[in-house]
Amino acid sequence: MKIRVLGAAAGGGFPQWNCNCRNCRAVREGHAAYQRRTQSSIAVSAEGARWTLVNASPDILQQFQAFAGTWPTGGLRGCGIESVVLVDAQIDHTTGLYMLREKGSPWPIWCTDPVYEDLTRGNPILHLLEHYCGVDRRPLPAGGEPFHPEGSESLDWQALPLLSAAPPYSPHRGNPVPGDNVGLTIRDPATRRRVFYAPGLAEVDDAVFSAMRAADCVMVDGTFWTDDEMISLGLSTKRARDIGHLAQSGPGGMIEQLARLPRHIRRVLIHINNTNPILDEGSTERAILTAAGIEVAYDGMEIDL
Ligand code: MLT
Ligand code: MN
Ligand code: ZN
Repeated sequence: MKIRVLGAAAGGGFPQWNCNCRNCRAVREGHAAYQRRTQSSIAVSAEGARWTLVNASPDILQQFQAFAGTWPTGGLRGCGIESVVLVDAQIDHTTGLYMLREKGSPWPIWCTDPVYEDLTRGNPILHLLEHYCGVDRRPLPAGGEPFHPEGSESLDWQALPLLSAAPPYSPHRGNPVPGDNVGLTIRDPATRRRVFYAPGLAEVDDAVFSAMRAADCVMVDGTFWTDDEMISLGLSTKRARDIGHLAQSGPGGMIEQLARLPRHIRRVLIHINNTNPILDEGSTERAILTAAGIEVAYDGMEIDL
């Protein structure tokens, strides 16, 4: 199984267009310790030729240009990506669908019922696409039943409902329902290797921990270093947890959660917010991660399992 990180940043990307925080300023100025990152998306393939897209970010055109696996081959039109799986209905995970409208046939789009509801009501993007390529909506089972999205049918995909948050525009924003956000376990039956992917994760409950422990590689929420990161910078009044993200540092934080996993499991943080000090490769925070055996995803990262 192959996983390609198309975008490793959280919503807004890195740098974020209107942000003048220390990180965004440094990366704009070309400081060597910082790398640009586009918004949250990965692609998954069994053999490296046909791919399934997980999340469609606003930066999707740039991401496809940077990844030859998506380029058309053979006919006059085409794409290496054969279907789209959505882990939630957030803007940073869905806006790229607009850019995929030129497809000559409906896009298979796998999403849970609550996500489908958000994407046909609060943000009716799936209805709009009916006027272009069309959508072949595939219900993503949130109860753990395996599913097999186009492009990677030989892999067994399973969704796990997560405690995170529906988008601000969603009627479920204040009262989450199961399926607003899911984590994905993707298993290759040929090698028995599996990855657990959850870019938005507010809490590592028993079910999440079991899914993480059963994986060979976890790619999990790396949004914020501290729970009050946006508050202390004066950028927001909300804590990380309030918007569906478990911070890395502090008691019960992601570093502690990952430390509970068996040593052989590869640990990767993904969906990194531009304010997060770990984006400075020379920071003490980044050194803490490295010492704990935790990697920070970057655009173009490839994981072979
Ligand atoms: C999130 O992950 O919390 C959201 O994607 C934030 C956003 O809408 O940019
Ligand atoms: Mn996000
Ligand atoms: Zn910033």
